[in-house]
Amino acid sequence: MPVTPVLTRRWSAPESWTLATYERLDGYQGLRRALAQGPDDLIKLIKDSGLRGRGGAGFPTGMKWGFIPQGDGKPHYLVINADEGEPGTCKDAPLMKADPHSLIEGIVIAAYAVRASRAFVYLRGELIHAARRLRAAVAEAYQAGYLGRDILGSGFDLDLVIHSGAGAYICGEETALLDSLEGRRGQPRLRPPFPATHGLYASPTVVNNVETIATVPFIVNYGVDWFRSMGRERSPGPKIYSLSGHVTRPGQYEAPMGTTLRELLDLAGGVLGGRKLKAWTPGGSSTPLLTADHLDAPLDFEGVQEAGSLLGTAALMIMDETVDMLPVVRRLTQFYAHESCGKCTPCREGTTWMVQILSRMERGQGDPDDVDTLVDACDNIFGRAFCALADGATSPIVSGIKFFRNEFLPITPANPSGSTTSVAGSANGATAGGAAAGTPGAYAGAH
Ligand SMILES: Cc1cc2nc3c(=O)[nH]c(=O)nc-3n(C[C@H](O)[C@H](O)[C@H](O)COP(=O)(O)O)c2cc1C
Ligand code: SF4
Repeated sequence: MPVTPVLTRRWSAPESWTLATYERLDGYQGLRRALAQGPDDLIKLIKDSGLRGRGGAGFPTGMKWGFIPQGDGKPHYLVINADEGEPGTCKDAPLMKADPHSLIEGIVIAAYAVRASRAFVYLRGELIHAARRLRAAVAEAYQAGYLGRDILGSGFDLDLVIHSGAGAYICGEETALLDSLEGRRGQPRLRPPFPATHGLYASPTVVNNVETIATVPFIVNYGVDWFRSMGRERSPGPKIYSLSGHVTRPGQYEAPMGTTLRELLDLAGGVLGGRKLKAWTPGGSSTPLLTADHLDAPLDFEGVQEAGSLLGTAALMIMDETVDMLPVVRRLTQFYAHESCGKCTPCREGTTWMVQILSRMERGQGDPDDVDTLVDACDNIFGRAFCALADGATSPIVSGIKFFRNEFLPITPANPSGSTTSVAGSANGATAGGAAAGTPGAYAGAH
């Protein structure tokens, strides 16, 4: 499959993170073009391009920019979501490390379009190296006149602040992020009102993902037709897919939207050790698991939905045939219980109880009714909690049980592949498949 890198094309250049390299490779040309146009023309361009947010939900970016009220006399803000906490997701951090100026250029263009004179990058606390690169690049951009007062003589002013969070997954949820940025405890806000009118400091705010904004300079430079020549009708453009887990060459693979896992695995050398694919996440741990039956699903927003899951962050965690699903699902559920902000009961209590049930199943102390109890609990959590973290927490459980139900049921003569013993304390407590291959550590390190 021919793949022409767009977003990642500078990553292998020597000192790719410096301004000198960036300028040599067409850097800040998009900004010059953008500043020669009116802000509304830019919003229209991004609308026409069909660019959709790369932070997980796929919201149309131009439409989001268009929601910002004009002439309201309030300050406008642009906030970049660089929290990247979804397990398996590893695209924004490498992008900021390898090519920080592409993000900065996108920020200046986006801020100009939505008439913001102050922008923030909210960076996940653990991304220390990315923060260093980004701060150094911001200093270079100020020095060169791409940030600050009267940018490139256009009369447009923009200040950019890089803010490191403290490593809480919930602070990736855009309204929790805004509370955290304001110095409060990071918990989601009630909506409406939406950030477009009442965002940071109760002012109109656009929140966009790193990859979304880093895509913008390319669209300004090369145009709508070029952008739409990649990907599919409703999900155009290039995309960075993160492959981790049981794959021969894990890493970031850029390909047009709609590329299949089969094609990506070809690029990545296949499943590790030539083993068979058992399960995978198309968009991080909060998206329902898929199986080898879905290898040919187009990985774009519609294609993955048709296959029964979500594209999310395009974080493909690959699990081979040796993996025991129960420890995987238990570990992921523990993640959500740990990261639940505690604001609402279904999520705070539900995730904690589900970890307890899954843990006792894993210890061989499960009850034959546990599977139904878990499905019922997920049914009561999904759509009934304050934010999407709780919905995401149900995904591994519901999809794991859907495809691998036997592994969650007690071992009985009729179900020899079950995960646990049916009787508490029985000596026959070995987990099918062995815990070693199924430990999330197999992919957690790639995050
Ligand atoms: C629990 C939770 C965590 C999230 N974490 C992130 C994140 O780390 N990065 C991100 O860009 N979006 C994250 N999102 C999605 C954001 O709320 C928001 O939709 C996104 O930043 C919008 O940017 P986009 O339109 O460019 O995709 C998260 C959402 C939820 C519910
Ligand atoms: S769903 Fe969970 S993370 Fe979201 S507000 Fe409720 S308790 Fe917090």
